[in-house]
Amino acid sequence: MDNKLELIKEMYDVKDDELSQRKEALKKLEPYLDEIFDLFYEKLSQKEQISQFLINVDLDELKEKQIKFLKYLLSKPFDEKLYTQISKVAITHYHIRLDPVFMSYGFHVLSESVLFQAKKESSLLPHLQLIIKYLKIAESIMDQEYFAQKNLENSPYRANGLFIAVNKLHMYYLEFLHDKESEEIKNRLEENIKELKKYRDILKEVGFDLSNIKRHYTLYFNDSNEANLAKLGVLINQPLYNLSTTSYLSITSSLMLLNSMTKIAYHEDMHLDLDVKEKMKSLILQNFGWAVEDIIFCKEEQEACDIIKMLEHNEEIFYLCIKVKDIANKLYVLESIDLLCENIKLSLFLKEKKKEK
Ligand code: HEM
Repeated sequence: MDNKLELIKEMYDVKDDELSQRKEALKKLEPYLDEIFDLFYEKLSQKEQISQFLINVDLDELKEKQIKFLKYLLSKPFDEKLYTQISKVAITHYHIRLDPVFMSYGFHVLSESVLFQAKKESSLLPHLQLIIKYLKIAESIMDQEYFAQKNLENSPYRANGLFIAVNKLHMYYLEFLHDKESEEIKNRLEENIKELKKYRDILKEVGFDLSNIKRHYTLYFNDSNEANLAKLGVLINQPLYNLSTTSYLSITSSLMLLNSMTKIAYHEDMHLDLDVKEKMKSLILQNFGWAVEDIIFCKEEQEACDIIKMLEHNEEIFYLCIKVKDIANKLYVLESIDLLCENIKLSLFLKEKKKEK
């Protein structure tokens, strides 16, 4: 940040003793800010691509925010705090997907509106240069921060596809482990790997080499050799020893988990007439496929499992036992899966109670 601030100061020749001049300029500008922004919106609304950003927006509220921002820009020291404030506004515009070129056009229109006012009010004239200079500075920072935000969003850990891709990959792998010989699974795997191709780059960023994974699946199918199987396991599981990867996945899984729990609680989304065990399995795998090594339903507790829940459905008592992979963040993941299982258990219990009534 320090570097960026210094560069902007040098580019725009920002002097430390300029603050009192800026405050003076603001004093003269303040009585006209309302009119200036009215003209600003009038001009923006004439451009179709831009006016659509202002539909359904409370313009009085927006005007208030923009005036406050302009006052801040002209009355505060040029330091990190001001820079951060400007970046935050850039991020707001990034989220409404206002392209930098539209934003620049907005600054152009705002400068024109100030100029128009100065033609009517000569007391503004001596301050014009400084006001326009600070609008240019704000524009420049916003431009820069828009792209910084875009890069952040493109980082593999932020990419929305990463969770989907890793989760799918692991679900397919799990399915394969349960039935390594089936021709049907083999065909489905090939289809699934094809589908994952669009995520190849982000998977690679976090250590999954899709081509190599595919190669080892094929090698195993051609020659059911244990060494190929072991290598495949390493390729699929190794990235889960990386804390950054599992931290990202854990957070995303937890968000998905909240979503599932809300569905269970509010929409009673456990179609209990269908196979309840299948439903539970798919719920857990949709949220934590990447972390689960095995899901077993049995009549007796399986001691080697990490999570064991006793459940009751249609007067049948059974155990849901889950083995979690040996991964970074395992403790955290266990707690989250446990929470999901508790929720399923509660949901079943409530359904049974309802049936009794
Ligand atoms: C093409 C030009 C522009 C359009 C279409 C536009 C549109 C918007 C919209 C729709 C919002 C509300 C976003 C939200 O709350 O979800 C907003 C917020 C804001 N805009 Fe702009 N804007 C433009 C240019 C500017 C310029 C030139 C400035 C600088 C003076 C500015 C300063 C602000 C500020 C301070 C906020 C409030 C930010 C916040 O609450 O986080 N905008 N803008």
